Amino acid sequence: MNRSEMIERAQNHLGGLIESQLERIERMKASKDFIQYDSLDTIVIGVVGGDGIGPFITAQAQRILEFLLKDQVSAGKVAFKIIDGLTIENRAKQNKAIPEDILEELKQCHVILKGPTTTPRAGDPWPNIESANVAMRKELDLFANVRPVKVPEEGIDWVFYRENTEGAYALGSDGLEVNEDLFMDFTVATYEGSRRIIKAAFDYADKSGANKVTVVTKANVIKTTDGKFLKIAAEVAKEYPDVEWDDWYIDIMTAKLVDTKRRSQFKVMVLPNLYGDILTDEAAEFQGGVGTAGSANIGTRYAMFEAIHGSAPRMVDEGRGGYADPSSIIRGAAMLLEHIGYHKEAKKLSMALDICGQFEKELIITGRDTGATSEEFSDYIMRTLERDDLEDKWNSYL
Ligand code: IPM
Ligand code: MG
Repeated sequence: MNRSEMIERAQNHLGGLIESQLERIERMKASKDFIQYDSLDTIVIGVVGGDGIGPFITAQAQRILEFLLKDQVSAGKVAFKIIDGLTIENRAKQNKAIPEDILEELKQCHVILKGPTTTPRAGDPWPNIESANVAMRKELDLFANVRPVKVPEEGIDWVFYRENTEGAYALGSDGLEVNEDLFMDFTVATYEGSRRIIKAAFDYADKSGANKVTVVTKANVIKTTDGKFLKIAAEVAKEYPDVEWDDWYIDIMTAKLVDTKRRSQFKVMVLPNLYGDILTDEAAEFQGGVGTAGSANIGTRYAMFEAIHGSAPRMVDEGRGGYADPSSIIRGAAMLLEHIGYHKEAKKLSMALDICGQFEKELIITGRDTGATSEEFSDYIMRTLERDDLEDKWNSYL
């Protein structure tokens, strides 16, 4: 290929990307209204096991949801829909991040509880297909990745609002290899996409009483996309006179999260996709690691709840799948309950998780046969849920 052919090929590639992003903007504009769960006859909860330890831990979270929602299920207000086949083997066989038939099933649900799914990378025995997580967030337009982190004894009470459909992820599998010397990836920000995540963060800060939002970018260097993100944040902030806000760059923000004098001042953080990915893993570490944090992926029509960790295939290969820690996905299940309006059940479940996993610790999960199995731990959570003194017990530890 000569130089002008190369440039023409690159122009065509970019043209296609711009076209698909413009279409996405139209779709965003056309679906701004949030679904109202209380107006549905039946809320359908999809359960997707995923692969690796996914099916093991998801089964436990499902048991707990069924336990908490048994009356609603009997009354036909809630139904579970089990969706199999979102495994790396099946995805590889069909060469699809999410096979068509599974996507159709997902779209029949209102909310989804999802176990981890293996994300292939170059060199794996699998084709290097897009992550199922990333694909699901895009396909169902789950734009707000909400990740709370709490360490009460250190005054940490953070909620991250990570943008989930744009940034470096939007075209992460659509980069350009110009020739054997030049490689380019693209970062995307849209007015609509930035505004809706920033607004979600301010809304939450306003309603929850946190009243403080920190906007995290690298707008001093990434001037176009991050620059716009920050500008739109300033615009949204004007609509929330009661919410205080500030902005930090991602590098110093990463440092400040380990600054024990400073970090308790942060409350709600809103940030582009990749920074959010990185910062939330760091944040979860203070709470006991990624195994302890839940994650909500919220859109206007669908919402998906998951563990923030990966599928740990090695644990399954070594026969330790049944010893995987289900805490993170059970946190996700608590967020799901909260999201669909079962506040009382959500609160009980998160108190039980705190008691079992952080305070009382009658059973310990070690990831191997030196500790409790996922099932035993979930039984422990259910026993705790049944305690009459659950709330008093929880309060006594604070
Ligand atoms: C997460 C994960 C995913 C991400 C991976 C599995 C693609 O790290 O949910 O944070 O990068 O978003
Ligand atoms: Mg991550």
